[in-house]
Amino acid sequence: MPHYQAVKGARDIFPEEMARWKYVEGVIHSIAALYGFSEIRTPIFEYTELFQRGIGSTTDIVGKEMFSFQPDPQGRSITLRPEMTAGVMRAALQKNILSSAPVHKLYYISELFRKERPQAGRQRQFSQFGAELLGVSSSAAVAEVITLMMQLFESLGVHSLCLRINSLGDTEDRLRYRSALQSYFAPYHDQLDDSSKERLEKNPLRILDSKNPAMQELVAGAPRLYDYLSASAVAEFEKVLFYLSERSISYQIDYRLVRGLDYYSHAAFEVTSPALGAQDAIGGGGRYDGLARELGNASDLPAAGFAVGMERLLMTMEKQGLFTTLNPQGPLVCVVTQQQELEDHAMQIAWRLRKAGISTETDLASRSMKAQMREANRMRAAYALFVGAEELSTGLYSLKNLLTSEQTTLSLDAVIEILREPLLREQVRS
Ligand code: HAM
Repeated sequence: MPHYQAVKGARDIFPEEMARWKYVEGVIHSIAALYGFSEIRTPIFEYTELFQRGIGSTTDIVGKEMFSFQPDPQGRSITLRPEMTAGVMRAALQKNILSSAPVHKLYYISELFRKERPQAGRQRQFSQFGAELLGVSSSAAVAEVITLMMQLFESLGVHSLCLRINSLGDTEDRLRYRSALQSYFAPYHDQLDDSSKERLEKNPLRILDSKNPAMQELVAGAPRLYDYLSASAVAEFEKVLFYLSERSISYQIDYRLVRGLDYYSHAAFEVTSPALGAQDAIGGGGRYDGLARELGNASDLPAAGFAVGMERLLMTMEKQGLFTTLNPQGPLVCVVTQQQELEDHAMQIAWRLRKAGISTETDLASRSMKAQMREANRMRAAYALFVGAEELSTGLYSLKNLLTSEQTTLSLDAVIEILREPLLREQVRS
């Protein structure tokens, strides 16, 4: 077996695809700025307890999907982060950032790791764009993060998405519902699979998120959490729906939606894309006021956020034909040598152009002029600058616009002046 195989579930992104990522990331940065979110980066690994406590030990993510290891025999177990929310909250609490300003709006585009069975749209290393609004406990905050997420999809031209939303109520609501679920599932105990049996004791809500079709059939008849919500939880949820309607964001209420992480309370949501296959969730999130306390903070800390799977977002855009107009950018100019002995001079000119801030390519492989021109076209260069014996003696160079074939003879300083013109560069590249 060759030794140059990527790990299953991890993939390379080559420059052509990278242009798409850069474009999407650019839109993300601008939209995050519109809503006043600032970027945060946290470590790729964290102590394992952070995820066990934060995401919940009975979730699939913590139970089956974490890449954990012990750095040294006595050391604490550490885990490659399977999601960002717990790490962002950990960072906020550790630095006590809410003492300086009561509200923090943070976003990230980060790599994550989950030991899931790889398939289309499901990788072991993947990335998410996510936003976390810390310090505000309100329906307005949830509506704000949903609005940001939907504006991103809209700005990218992504369409036909389905936003499903549910309320998971507060801790007391869920405790009441937990007993109701245990009573409902008790007579079916023998039909439950092993993990559902375990969950029935520890966290029956998790059974609702089971991927096993036999469990899903049982779940279909289970009581609804919504019917156990207090009047104030219902009112809060209705407020979120009101904001969404006001902003023309369509949604479906999905009373069975529980999400795969335990930290949610009140509104939780998921967005699916029909352009994706079996793994059709493109993003999800909700309110998670209790996470801070779970991590050892003295009290709850109001928070809401979401994350969008970058690979699934790009797959959706590809399927919806949204990349057709996006071409990878080539260099602005290729320095082409007419004679091989002038190669060193061509390299010197390329260096001067680059120092002047002009993206430049030149041949490093002593190819013929014809081959160099073919390469310039393949790279989608806008201009070719010819270097021959005559150019060398006169100090005047021929600059050819490769789009119009127009050719002019200029000094190198004049070439630099023209190619540095920002307006011209915009025109050439669009
Ligand atoms: P999540 O639903 O686990 O939520 O993940 C969010 C998105 O990440 C999914 O909708 C999907 O698009 C993408 N995703 C998840 N697993 C994979 C995978 N194995 N391969 C490719 N893409 C994947 C969270 O992670 C929460 N932290 C979201 C959140 C932020 N809640 C509040 N704030």
